[in-house]
Amino acid sequence: MASVMLATVDPGDEVIVFEPYYENYGPDAILAGATPRYVTLHPPHWTFDEAQLHQAFNANTKAIIINTPHNPTGKVFTREELTLIAELCQKWDVLAFTDEIYEHILYDGTQHIALATLPGMEERTITINGLSKTYSVTGWRVGYILANPALTGAIRKVHDFLTVGAPAPLQRAGVTAMQLPPSYYEELGKLYHQKRDSILQILDGVGIPYFLPQGAYYVLADISKFGYKTDIEFTYHLIKNIGVAVVPGSSFFSQPEKGHSLIRFCFSKTPETLQAASDRLLKLSK
Ligand SMILES: Cc1ncc(COP(=O)(O)O)c(C=O)c1O
Repeated sequence: MASVMLATVDPGDEVIVFEPYYENYGPDAILAGATPRYVTLHPPHWTFDEAQLHQAFNANTKAIIINTPHNPTGKVFTREELTLIAELCQKWDVLAFTDEIYEHILYDGTQHIALATLPGMEERTITINGLSKTYSVTGWRVGYILANPALTGAIRKVHDFLTVGAPAPLQRAGVTAMQLPPSYYEELGKLYHQKRDSILQILDGVGIPYFLPQGAYYVLADISKFGYKTDIEFTYHLIKNIGVAVVPGSSFFSQPEKGHSLIRFCFSKTPETLQAASDRLLKLSK
């Protein structure tokens, strides 16, 4: 994402980011000299207001970032939402940077739609993906992009100057991984479905309200009823006194107060770890 942003966005440009957002997008835009313009995703289904999206586009808009399935909400953008985004991108001559790193982690029959497949979007979409979630190798930091050749020249150059390249043995492992049969992806989907159902059962058991994720491997939970002043205070309480680590909701907002009633659980954990978390979280309901 950083290479894409530095290669295509200039100082003075604006980049539209849906909020809450994966922490890197705001800083990536700022490093490129651009101004992030946030469009709110509203709970419980994390939908956006069409009028606010229309207003976010203007003559300075260079790009929009779409992360689907979405971290931290688990939202999966619908065809209707993506169609509107595609129309606005074409109207305002804007690039779309998609982060589709959770494309294979979907629940309840939800479909992932790649924006680049929508009419008129192949030329202006930079599809960003990586090995870490699909092949359970977070920490390897091997990513890849698909884009129009007119854009990849600049992106390759920036990537070269930023990183030289991803480690060669990890790239080879990626080639092997990408030859796995379709059954691999089906099993991955089933595995995460079980994990999601486990964490939802845990949260129901403890009485923590949450927003149902349709994809990715996080659950945003509403902590208002616990009476803590901020998400940070509650997160420290969970870590120090309960023994469960979460990410405070404010990390995903440009203005921290917008996330004060939220925390994010990550359920990409073994059944044993999820069970241990369940045992510990029960202390909260006492
Ligand atoms: C939406 C999103 N994009 C990108 C990444 C990071 O990917 P990588 O492991 O390739 O650095 C993450 C990791 O949490 C993520 O949630």
